[in-house]
Amino acid sequence: MELTPRFPHFLHGGDYNPDQWLDRPDILEKDVELMQKAHVNCVSIAIFAWARLEPEDGVYDFTWLDQVIDRLWKGGIHVILATPSGARPAWMAQKYPEVLRVNSQYQKMHFGERHNHCPSSPAYRRKVREMDTALAKRYAHHPAVILWHLSNEFSGECHCPRCQQAFRDWLKEKYGTLEELNKCWWTGFWSQRYTDWSQVEAPSPLGEVSSCSMSVDWQRFLTDQCKSFIEMERDAVQAVDPSLKVTVNMMERFWGYDYFSMAESVDVVSWDSYPSWHSGDDLARGAEFAMNHDIMRSLKDAPFILMESTPSQVNWKPHNKLKEPGMHLLSSMQAVAHGSQSVMYFQWRKGRGGGEMFHGAVVDHYGESDTRVFADVTEVGESLEKLEPIYHTKPHAEVCIIFDWQNRWAIDYAQTGQKGAMNYFDTVLSHYRGFWEQGITVDFRDMRDCTDLSGYKIVVAPMLFMFRNGFEQKLRRFVENGGTLISTYFTGVVDEHDLAYLGPTPHGLTDVFGFRAAELDALFPTEKNQLVLENGQGTYEITELCEILANCTAEVKGTYQRNFYQGQPCLTVHSFGKGKAWYIAAKVEQQFLLDFYLGIAKDAGVSPTFCETLPTGVVPASRDNVTFLQNFSMKEQRVQLTHTYHDLLHDTTVTGQQVMPVNGLLILQPV
Ligand code: GLA
Ligand code: ZN
Repeated sequence: MELTPRFPHFLHGGDYNPDQWLDRPDILEKDVELMQKAHVNCVSIAIFAWARLEPEDGVYDFTWLDQVIDRLWKGGIHVILATPSGARPAWMAQKYPEVLRVNSQYQKMHFGERHNHCPSSPAYRRKVREMDTALAKRYAHHPAVILWHLSNEFSGECHCPRCQQAFRDWLKEKYGTLEELNKCWWTGFWSQRYTDWSQVEAPSPLGEVSSCSMSVDWQRFLTDQCKSFIEMERDAVQAVDPSLKVTVNMMERFWGYDYFSMAESVDVVSWDSYPSWHSGDDLARGAEFAMNHDIMRSLKDAPFILMESTPSQVNWKPHNKLKEPGMHLLSSMQAVAHGSQSVMYFQWRKGRGGGEMFHGAVVDHYGESDTRVFADVTEVGESLEKLEPIYHTKPHAEVCIIFDWQNRWAIDYAQTGQKGAMNYFDTVLSHYRGFWEQGITVDFRDMRDCTDLSGYKIVVAPMLFMFRNGFEQKLRRFVENGGTLISTYFTGVVDEHDLAYLGPTPHGLTDVFGFRAAELDALFPTEKNQLVLENGQGTYEITELCEILANCTAEVKGTYQRNFYQGQPCLTVHSFGKGKAWYIAAKVEQQFLLDFYLGIAKDAGVSPTFCETLPTGVVPASRDNVTFLQNFSMKEQRVQLTHTYHDLLHDTTVTGQQVMPVNGLLILQPV
């Protein structure tokens, strides 16, 4: 699938802010020269340029942007054109104060910063729509322009009276009557019962924070509100040219909006990736960012665009470390291995001032190309050109992990277990790593109606606390039809209103798993338990959470070593229909999951995408039959290849022993 049909090639480039350099035409000229030298073929522009594009209310100035785009196009550089709604001009905040946000403490924000708009403000929506329409009319048909970049990193919430009313309207639409809302929010608790819609206010530290059902609904509302803003922008630009696709740039580990739902509002998913390499364990970091990439690919089950990454260091972490030699290529190509059709950066050139003047850039304040970073970037550009033949390849998965935003919210709002530290994301990651280290491709799916599990051999559903849309039926059918399901503690506890199921849990699946979950024990931080495998096959450490099972008819594969539930089942498997349902009742250490999923994959007939034996820390990831061998081990490694391959980066044929340096990378295709 072509993300950018007007230029169906790997994109290389990044955020470019010519609007900060309008008084330096020499620098703007030189930029294009340097871009060509760095094998840059595309830049994202005008992301924060509103104050230059509309210096006064209703007065547009596009002449500078005309020149910038023409100059880029003459130099063979394509453009991802942003709509500037991520930050607004001072005059607008002054003239239309309603465009600014109100925070959850009901304080009205002042002009400043970015991402500080009220999403329901009619004035803001009108100004954005007019700006987007004007941009589209002027540039949608320009041959340089290949994609719309709507706004920037949508996030946050507004508590102004208008947004409060929008929340109430959303609730009315969802529940129909107050009676129904009272029922679904269990408002008998602490006298929360509402007798008039106007009494409902969004969760706030000054008001209600103990209604989990309301809090989850608030996140759903915020998602829908953001989607309606995105769709307003999308429709404005596509009214002019429906063929020019739109994207929004998303973020790693982002919690606030349901990205699976949000991705439905755009044509293309893109995201901004900022791993902290070299902080002690690059293998763990590699797993984390592989998962981030796979989530992004999964949102639309399609390739994605890496919209931002740093060419060297960032400026906003406590420790802004440089990338070691090799890491820029390795981490850029990791994105490609997992389905990215681009490597793009924040930022092309460092500004002279402002909060990001020291953020890594392709071009430093020094201004020339003879730098280490420029050479690293050029290498990535050249490498992407060599990968052109695999542009249309993609990763294929037989394993699916369920990662659901609404479940995530429900877990985080639940006051139980390890309060506020149930670690859903990291738990999903530790399961993911069990496949990633083996070189097995994983898709992520959520619990929307459209999710289809039938194409997978293995489904892993860690901590699926909330079931929605009858998802338990899908899991049941999956196992019945021969699939291998792995679930964990804290599964099937609440329904989609975040109301506890009455009766045995995991809800609707106790016959599939062969037990009922009885109690959840939370360990103190210093406390440990152990999982002891049957037949002396090993002992693994348990921390955080232990669930006690009752009425167990499943086969017990491992038991607890300590506490009053010593000897009771901790790891079980149960045959159901043609398949198997495994259950891991406690939070068991990473090594267990690595060992466990080796066996599970073999059992379920899922093989790694690369059939050579590799040293630990050299991780394969594949797009069709092209494998990216990535050395995240922080050591030099020797890899023994028993088959013959084409080395795509060096255009040679390789077999036998290969020495991979620290942060080394090989891209291989069997010959
Ligand atoms: C985000 C933003 C960029 C920039 C970078 C810095 O991803 O989208 O504008 O601030 O962070 O890393
Ligand atoms: Zn508002």
